[in-house]
Amino acid sequence: MITVETVVSLREQIARLRQSDKRIAFVPTLGNLHAGHMRLMQEARHHAQAVVASIYVNPLQFGQNEDFDSYPRTPSHDKVALLSAGVDLLFRPAESEMYPHGRAAQTVVEVPGLSDELCGAFRPGHFRGVTTVVNRLFNLVTPDVAVFGKKDYQQWLLVRLMTADLGLPVEIIGVDTVREPDGLALSSRNNYLSPDERKVAPHLYEALGTLRDRFRDKGLALETVEENAIMELEADGFRPDYVSVRRQQDLQKPGPDDRQLVALAAAWLGQTRLIDNVEFELKS
Ligand code: PAJ
Repeated sequence: MITVETVVSLREQIARLRQSDKRIAFVPTLGNLHAGHMRLMQEARHHAQAVVASIYVNPLQFGQNEDFDSYPRTPSHDKVALLSAGVDLLFRPAESEMYPHGRAAQTVVEVPGLSDELCGAFRPGHFRGVTTVVNRLFNLVTPDVAVFGKKDYQQWLLVRLMTADLGLPVEIIGVDTVREPDGLALSSRNNYLSPDERKVAPHLYEALGTLRDRFRDKGLALETVEENAIMELEADGFRPDYVSVRRQQDLQKPGPDDRQLVALAAAWLGQTRLIDNVEFELKS
């Protein structure tokens, strides 16, 4: 695996891969890699002869009071993990490479509307930071295909919308959420949980499953099942930001004819914000 830290050397390495006519798959990450990230690397390998990963803790997507400074940075661990996954090229830029004119002067890319809903309503500017960095990374790496986790469902959709709107020639692949045996979605932020919080954390996924069953199988009203999930999470010690059932295709509120749905939630447990979602289908 070749590791590059500058845009110039990244471009050289990409040109080299292109000369040998290799299809390039790209997996952007914040680092502190776990089995969820590694699943994305595997998927990338199925789609291309060369896999490029990036590790960049992107300041633009963290709010003022969020965990940018304390976000876990584990470069040696990450390098070993990427090596054993057979990744060909790692891009690990410094901020001066990503935003050479400074954060405030960076041209931004924003998908209107959906960027301000669900997680966006509670993390103003977060998705603008995500689409801005992903667009810049796409332009630098020029991948044929890029792989994202459905754990960050809204991010996955926003990246697809941005890619289509800007006419970027990148195919976007979504990978199912990788979970702990007890159902908790793998996340770097799980490390913030205390042992007691860790025991309660899988209830978020359970609550979404219960909500789905009540709505899909028992025919209860959407508002009722959403409110019940919020109350039950609160009783478990969570502070939910939202619990919401949406259409898979565009994350808008479902109408009577919509069948492909996803229940999404974000909730705080102590100092840790957890997100999760469950896709499901209604029978006609
Ligand atoms: P990060 O949180 O490091 O996640 C990188 C990729 O791994 C994302 O596509 C995310 O959805 C996926 N992922 C994380 N946990 C997963 C799990 N348990 N199962 C499957 N996939 C999982 O998401 C980001 O970084 C950043 O916002 C980024 C896209 C890199 C832009 O800065």
